[in-house]
Amino acid sequence: MKLLILYFSATGITRTIAKIIGDKFAEIGCQVTISDITSSADRQKTFDFNAYHAVVFGVPIHSWRAPKAVTKWIKTLNGQGKKCSTFFTYGGFGAHPTHYSTGQLLGNQNFIVVSSAEFMGFYAFDRPGRKAREDRIDDSFFEVALEYAGKTYKRFTGEDNTVLEKTNYTEEQLDSIESFKFNVITQLPTREGKSCSMCLICEESCPTEAMKAKYGEADQEKCIACLACVDNCPENALKIKDISDSWSFKVEIEKLTGESMKKQKSKLYL
Ligand SMILES: Cc1cc2nc3c(=O)[nH]c(=O)nc-3n(C[C@H](O)[C@H](O)[C@H](O)COP(=O)(O)O)c2cc1C
Ligand code: SF4
Ligand code: SF4
Repeated sequence: MKLLILYFSATGITRTIAKIIGDKFAEIGCQVTISDITSSADRQKTFDFNAYHAVVFGVPIHSWRAPKAVTKWIKTLNGQGKKCSTFFTYGGFGAHPTHYSTGQLLGNQNFIVVSSAEFMGFYAFDRPGRKAREDRIDDSFFEVALEYAGKTYKRFTGEDNTVLEKTNYTEEQLDSIESFKFNVITQLPTREGKSCSMCLICEESCPTEAMKAKYGEADQEKCIACLACVDNCPENALKIKDISDSWSFKVEIEKLTGESMKKQKSKLYL
């Protein structure tokens, strides 16, 4: 079976998981092609889905959804009736709606979504002051990835004809959650006058062409707060606001403890 894995990864977690999942599909006999769709140039390429038996989409969760750049891109695709699957990486908070809302988007573009999975990555917003678990990639990732590949393979071949359920959330509900969460955690990255070597890495690694190295600031309309620029700056010159206070609030409201966070596991959505 020829399989295409397309992944978006701003800070590298989804890329790592895409490779693990690609290896697992290869172990059960698939011929796997992995393609990065993180940069806007990558998302402008045309993919010939007819050359593959099925497609797997891997993306991080941003405010209970696939990142805006990805949802916009999905709306340009023609799935031509292909079977596909999704997997998500996330920090441990609110993955559930993402499986179904992304599945719905793909369904609208004529894909048949057969399964989904979620993997807990490093939480991108640990950088500016949240303190979710950091020891995310452990043996369970490989076990879940293998189970995901095996069960999804059976759905791709038709040995198992089950497909993913539909969402219970409306687009309006998800819009309001997304904008609320986005506003709590986000102040656009800025250099705030710090000197830098003008290496342009921040600009080149920005998936939405929002960062302008010359000014050390992100374009408010285009920035999706993915933190790729902050992560990749070799001088550590870019910052976003410290959100330690909102983390203390979250810990209190959701009664989070180190132990309860450790109990969260990567899992399948079948
Ligand atoms: C803008 C933004 C919003 C996020 N929202 C959520 C969220 O709602 N729930 C969650 O558990 N993790 C959330 N995260 C954490 C990411 O899903 C997690 O860090 C992911 O593994 C990053 O993947 P990447 O390194 O491939 O970009 C968010 C991260 C960013 C940058
Ligand atoms: S990546 Fe950092 S050092 Fe390089 S241009 Fe951007 S802000 Fe300056
Ligand atoms: S400017 Fe915004 S969208 Fe671009 S890399 Fe930085 S955080 Fe991501």
